Amino acid sequence: MTEHRPRLPIVMVGHVDHGKSSLIGRLLHDTGSLQDGKLAELQAASDKRGMPLEWSFALDALQAERDQAVTIDSTQVRFAGASRDYVVVDAPGHREFVRNMLTGASQAAAAVLVVAADEGVADQTKRHASLLPLIGLTQVIIAVTKMDLVGFDEARYAAIATETTQLLTRFGLTARRAIPISVRTGQGISRSFAGPAWYRGPTLLEALDELGEPLSLIDEPARLPIQLVQRIDDKRILCGRVAAGRFRAGDEVMFSPSNKTARIAALAAWPEANTPEEAVVGDSIGVILDQPLFIERGELMSRTAEALPKLTAIFAGRLVWFSPSPLTEGQQVNLRIGTTETSATVSRIKRLIGATGDDAAMPVSVVNGDIAEVVLRATKLIAADDYLTSRPTGRFVLFEHGAATAAGTISMADYPDQRPSLTVKATNVQAVKHGVSDEMRAARHGHKGSVIWLTGLSGSGKSTIAMEAEAALFANGFEVFVLDGDNLRAGLTANLGFTPDDRSENIRRVGEVAALFASAGMIVITSLISPYREDRQRARTAAERLGCSFHEVYVDADLSTCEQRDPKGLYKRARTGEIANFTGVSAPYEPPESPSLILNSGRQSATESVASLVDYVRDAARLTKTP
Ligand code: ADX
Repeated sequence: MTEHRPRLPIVMVGHVDHGKSSLIGRLLHDTGSLQDGKLAELQAASDKRGMPLEWSFALDALQAERDQAVTIDSTQVRFAGASRDYVVVDAPGHREFVRNMLTGASQAAAAVLVVAADEGVADQTKRHASLLPLIGLTQVIIAVTKMDLVGFDEARYAAIATETTQLLTRFGLTARRAIPISVRTGQGISRSFAGPAWYRGPTLLEALDELGEPLSLIDEPARLPIQLVQRIDDKRILCGRVAAGRFRAGDEVMFSPSNKTARIAALAAWPEANTPEEAVVGDSIGVILDQPLFIERGELMSRTAEALPKLTAIFAGRLVWFSPSPLTEGQQVNLRIGTTETSATVSRIKRLIGATGDDAAMPVSVVNGDIAEVVLRATKLIAADDYLTSRPTGRFVLFEHGAATAAGTISMADYPDQRPSLTVKATNVQAVKHGVSDEMRAARHGHKGSVIWLTGLSGSGKSTIAMEAEAALFANGFEVFVLDGDNLRAGLTANLGFTPDDRSENIRRVGEVAALFASAGMIVITSLISPYREDRQRARTAAERLGCSFHEVYVDADLSTCEQRDPKGLYKRARTGEIANFTGVSAPYEPPESPSLILNSGRQSATESVASLVDYVRDAARLTKTP
């Protein structure tokens, strides 16, 4: 092995005793990567115990050298492929692997998932598989070990290969290959070794050689979490370590969550105090902007020309929990993403992965060592990257008293980016004053304009209640109009679908229109699912900006009730997968935290709901004359 060959760091994972160490030992031997005399030593050690040659001793021997702090490089677990070397970067034990994942220290670019032919998929097989995306791994090879124990049975191999492949698919991973091997006989490992006649694919080493070079962090969208801001003379220098991509002097950059932009006037590097043209991932740099923006520690700098981080207060995450006390729904936690720290609440614990049975339904708490899918809500808007877009900044840590209690990855698939709604593009505009005052309108209509915002699941009864309340109020002399989601989707919002971003824009538009109607003096009843809390909050802000009152009304019928009713047959189609992103089924719904009114439409009749809504509106519109 020469020092100059390219290296690919890999990790071996799988259930305890499924043969990870033996496989590594055998790979080291078969590729001529063991020191001279090692095999004889192993043989002797095995003979002494009266056992067949135990390949895992090779790894134990290396581990012992490493523990004695012999120079790491010479003792790294490394073996040679056709054109590159493979370095086994993580010790195979579960704890070490998980710890490395936690700290983000793992540099592995590919994984071999070991599953024993006799036992098949086991607890740690699942847990490790679920962890692979956490460390950004996408290249996975399945090694079905101990084939000799099942007499090289093809059907057994095929069943395990299929089950493991499906497991990986669930975590968003694709198995590159599944290979039947036997460490004892050496079949399927390094050379084309007359394996079972039914297997035509490559050996494990050949399969590793087929893998592409991993995507380098330098090719990912540029990210610089700001660590500190230094003032030198009248200059402000933003300092941090580039987490991904590259920045150049002259680049237009975006700061998140403040949503401010500027240009990089110059980059600064120490200790020579030079001004490099470019800084790449791993470089610690200072940034001087072309204008005096107020930027603090915790902001994330990106390049406007590339994918920007999303702005959100809520995201889904997959985490490993590492604290003796359990994590429960509603719990307050401290959240760290890059250099940002904020408090957050665990809105939901969606499911547990592995360990305590498959996808335990409705877990109440997450205990030490559990891997769980959760929804976290921060107390403020933060910059969040989907870990698939940006691995270094798509990770988060939860901590308590300075120590990490969990680490995980961010998924923004179910939640909208708030940036588009916060970005004002129009410039050089000036507001004009109306000649008719709110009071004059209220005097003519006999009531104030207000927005009555109904929110709830599809099938909860929003439209029925809204339309009947409209008729009742109109009959009573109110100027009232319903803005209904389904109706508006034929016009105002016809170009929007049901992705999180489209829904967010849907609610933004309707929120603005409702505010205008209210401002014109009318009672506006809106009837939209409006699943996201931030979006409803923005609709409130739109109304209040125009001096109108905004009333959030929760039309509360639970999912099973709505699904049973299924007035449009949509739930059924959502369950079969025909309709994607369906609220409650495959898209989230965030109930209001403190609605002005709750209509218990799951339990009471529409008539009762309409009556309470009409009563409420009469009060809310504060009649100044009897209609
Ligand atoms: S919102 O989420 O953006 O507020 P909106 O209220 O406008 O939704 O539209 C919801 C209506 O669209 C539902 O009542 C249903 O009839 C229809 N619909 C079609 N596809 C979906 C979907 N994927 N999720 C929810 N509703 C859908």
